[in-house]
Amino acid sequence: MLQLTSQDLSRIKADTLIIPVCDDGVLYRSASLARWAQKPETISSFSAAAEEIVDIYQPEGLPIERMVFVGMGPSDELNAEGLRQAAGRGIRRAWRDRPGNAVLAVPDINLPAALKPEQALAAAAEGAYLANHTLAAYKTKRKKYPLKGIRLLVEAQHTRAFRRILKRVALTCQGTALARDWVNLPANDKPPRDLAVMIAQEASQAGVATKLMDARQLKRHQMGALLAVGAGSRQPPQMLILDHKPPRSRDTVVLVGKGVTFDAGGLNLKPTGSIEMMKIDMAGAAAVAAAVITAARLGLKKRIVGVLPLVENMVSGTAFRPGDIVRSYSGQTIEIGNTDAEGRLILADALAYAIKHYRPGCIIDLATLTGACVVALGDRIAGLFSADTDLREQILASSRHTHERCWALPLPDDYRELLKSDLADMRNIGPGRWGGAIVAALFLSRFVGDTPWAHIDIAGPAHTRKANAYGEAGGTGFGVRLLCDLLERL
Ligand code: BES
Ligand code: MN
Ligand code: ZN
Repeated sequence: MLQLTSQDLSRIKADTLIIPVCDDGVLYRSASLARWAQKPETISSFSAAAEEIVDIYQPEGLPIERMVFVGMGPSDELNAEGLRQAAGRGIRRAWRDRPGNAVLAVPDINLPAALKPEQALAAAAEGAYLANHTLAAYKTKRKKYPLKGIRLLVEAQHTRAFRRILKRVALTCQGTALARDWVNLPANDKPPRDLAVMIAQEASQAGVATKLMDARQLKRHQMGALLAVGAGSRQPPQMLILDHKPPRSRDTVVLVGKGVTFDAGGLNLKPTGSIEMMKIDMAGAAAVAAAVITAARLGLKKRIVGVLPLVENMVSGTAFRPGDIVRSYSGQTIEIGNTDAEGRLILADALAYAIKHYRPGCIIDLATLTGACVVALGDRIAGLFSADTDLREQILASSRHTHERCWALPLPDDYRELLKSDLADMRNIGPGRWGGAIVAALFLSRFVGDTPWAHIDIAGPAHTRKANAYGEAGGTGFGVRLLCDLLERL
């Protein structure tokens, strides 16, 4: 979908040309582009402030149907995220009643020192790719169509170096789109087994080995916590393992993703207002699967294993109950205080299993784990928990790079007593509502031993109610770009 072009403006044929502009100075070395980029100065309603957008039709002397100018505010404040958003807005503006094409001008001069030309290219490409993505499957007719082709307009001298960067961006965005699609599927079209098969197919195509454990095998492995959560559904739980194992790889990173294909809450049924979006409760699994698949496509040299417990948390005569005590894979027993705290139960078994079987150098889980995390950080920032300073800093660095924002929260030792049970080794909830994201993270910590571990609670940013600059309403694919960036640096 993304290509590079360095043709002269006068010869570019396109439905739409998108030019990101700042409210001071010109961002383009090319003289013809620079001239057109100054055009909006004559449009009184447009001041090039961030989020402003204006278009002109049939610009004189150019074989172009429409020009879109996207404002980015002052150039000294411009950063990669500003460019991602501007590119995204421009691309969405270029959508029309039939599939068309667009050319996006990539700024290359007068950028702040922290925004190198190759970073500008990557950011523009990312925003463009992600903004153009839509789930095609369910609308039989649509009013506006995504673009068939997007060309990034750059100086000829850059095209060689940029091609490699573009390839990488396209792959990570393809992964993000994959995760979004899985999250956006309605729960009736992704019961655990079907979702596992879907993901496994995609993984095989990318050369990733897969292993699918069905309920019988989960029983044989005594994954009591995962089985308890799955007991109320007619759709049995599954555990899918994706293994990217390049030759001669030594270190192993394990990624674990919460894969609740629908979270009704179980017998502690969620009320109206909380239950509607719960098809997104497998966003952690979607992000992890897409990240492993993308890592393989990128040819990363490390062994990367994705462990995905997939299950539906439902209400029925066979459902697990509050007060039940289950024996987890680790051997530790858990008293069920609330069947809606199911994510930590399935992660407990997945984490313990993964550590025992793969002995990873580090393990990272992504999960739409708690509403409390959304209360704390809002719906655009994930909660990050890790006692390993190094791992935590690496994740925060990737978070800054990709603008998939994470904020570190604590794992205080004296809160551990909140999980005490009179009968079992622990309970799956604390006595009250406060610090819910922390309590959940502390619960998980009991299943990782001394393996360096990080937990990312993505309950907020996994999903967006409204479209944003480079994504439609729905699954965001949050975590895929973060994990890909991280896996390259670990
Ligand atoms: N899947 C939910 C968390 C969630 C909430 C995800 C909002 C996305 C948006 C999780 O399984 C859950 O139900 N958590 C409970 C825990 C409580 C029972 C201790 C919660 O947050 O209320
Ligand atoms: Mn729940
Ligand atoms: Zn859940």
